[in-house]
Amino acid sequence: MRSTSTVAAAAVLSALPAALAWGAAGHEIVATIAQIHLHPTVLYEVCSILYPEAELSTQDGQPPCHLSRVATWADQVRMNPKYRYTASMHYVGAVDDHPSQTCAFPGERGWAGHTDVNVLGAVRNMTTILEDYTLGTVDPSQAEEAMKFLIHYLGDMHMPLHLTGRERGGNGAKVTFDGRMTNLHSVWDGFLIAQALRTIPENYTQALPAGKSTIDIESHLRGTIYDPYVRRLMYEGFGTDLILGRFSSEYTDWLACPPLERPSTWDTFQEILGFQRVKDETKWDDDALCPYSWAKELHKLNCEFPVWPRELDQPPYSHAAYSTSDEHEEHTHDEEAYLDASNPLGRRPQPHPDLFELDTPEYAGRIRSQWIVERLLAMAGIRLAALLNGLFLDVESFNSTTESTPVVLSL
Ligand SMILES: *[C@@H]1O[C@H](CO)[C@@H](O)[C@H](O)[C@H]1NC(C)=O
Ligand SMILES: *[C@@H]1O[C@H](CO)[C@@H](O)[C@H](O)[C@H]1NC(C)=O
Ligand SMILES: *[C@@H]1O[C@H](CO)[C@@H](O)[C@H](O)[C@H]1NC(C)=O
Repeated sequence: MRSTSTVAAAAVLSALPAALAWGAAGHEIVATIAQIHLHPTVLYEVCSILYPEAELSTQDGQPPCHLSRVATWADQVRMNPKYRYTASMHYVGAVDDHPSQTCAFPGERGWAGHTDVNVLGAVRNMTTILEDYTLGTVDPSQAEEAMKFLIHYLGDMHMPLHLTGRERGGNGAKVTFDGRMTNLHSVWDGFLIAQALRTIPENYTQALPAGKSTIDIESHLRGTIYDPYVRRLMYEGFGTDLILGRFSSEYTDWLACPPLERPSTWDTFQEILGFQRVKDETKWDDDALCPYSWAKELHKLNCEFPVWPRELDQPPYSHAAYSTSDEHEEHTHDEEAYLDASNPLGRRPQPHPDLFELDTPEYAGRIRSQWIVERLLAMAGIRLAALLNGLFLDVESFNSTTESTPVVLSL
């Protein structure tokens, strides 16, 4: 393992639990980045939780399983009556939040909807379940479910529109992308990633040449349309022993839990936690709050980048953008065609004069050049890896003389 891919325990999470959905590709990319950064013994343990019946192989340099295969399970079961209670665990939004003008997280009046059933509390609770599993107090089937939820929710939490309730996280904000009628949420869930997949440089369609990676990437890929994206993110993002990547100097900081200002009232505080269990004052430390600290920073993007285009609230777009007609509740054919990045694009449709176009140099162009989406996916992946390494790395058997320290959050 290359040393730059590693970081000592930067943050302490004592009972971390800690976001509606990146499209399938986004979630699977996050899971793949995480898997690449798992210690091999941890990957084995995670796979044995996910696939209790399977005989896991560690032969042939192949990983025992691929986390990306379960990354969208939580979306698939949401409509199932048994799991309907989880629907609100994919996001969180504050009553006073109104990007791009006002970003409240949560602000004076707290969270909207179910106060303690949101993505922050869900990450916390899933982590607690897995921690209890390591202590032997939770049964394997509960751990399997918690693992699948955690892999998904950590991805959701890194999609800025999952952290605002305005227009259902942008689902009700009509825009166009490359002339295709869609909504703001779908642009972030799917269009931006699909565009990146369509335009990836040729040299990432095959394994990186020897010497361009000292970390095993290939065995964790499984021949998907986003493999080139992961290679590029690893090479240009995390860098190698020889070249600095875009994230090289910052990603260790991603694992810190920034100190928090204590909210003025207990009720608000409880809401921030999204978690009833922490009532003891002595537990008022940053470690218990990491999902919140991370999400608070990510949420700011809605106002600061801004992810929520200001133009949507100004003439001539403000009227059509939020009209209540549900003509666009279903994905359109145009939209489906664009999102299937393996299909060549047809001719760009006629522009819609009433809707704001987001595939412009000022919007999508800036997102591409600043690696905004790549950074969010990498952040989610590395945090997931650190969390799982923190939960399952057996410190006793860890040989610090021969192994460099993997990303880890100590729990
Ligand atoms: C987390 O667990 C607590 C305690 O069981 C529960 O009250 C809360 O609703 C749960 N939150 C989520 C998001 O599951
Ligand atoms: C792939 O090509 C891009 C330019 O198109 C270059 O910046 C990048 O370094 C190349 N990657 C590798 C692994 O050679
Ligand atoms: C750790 O690695 C060193 C160097 O190979 C070896 O001497 C030592 O016995 C190992 N320790 C354990 C606990 O395996």
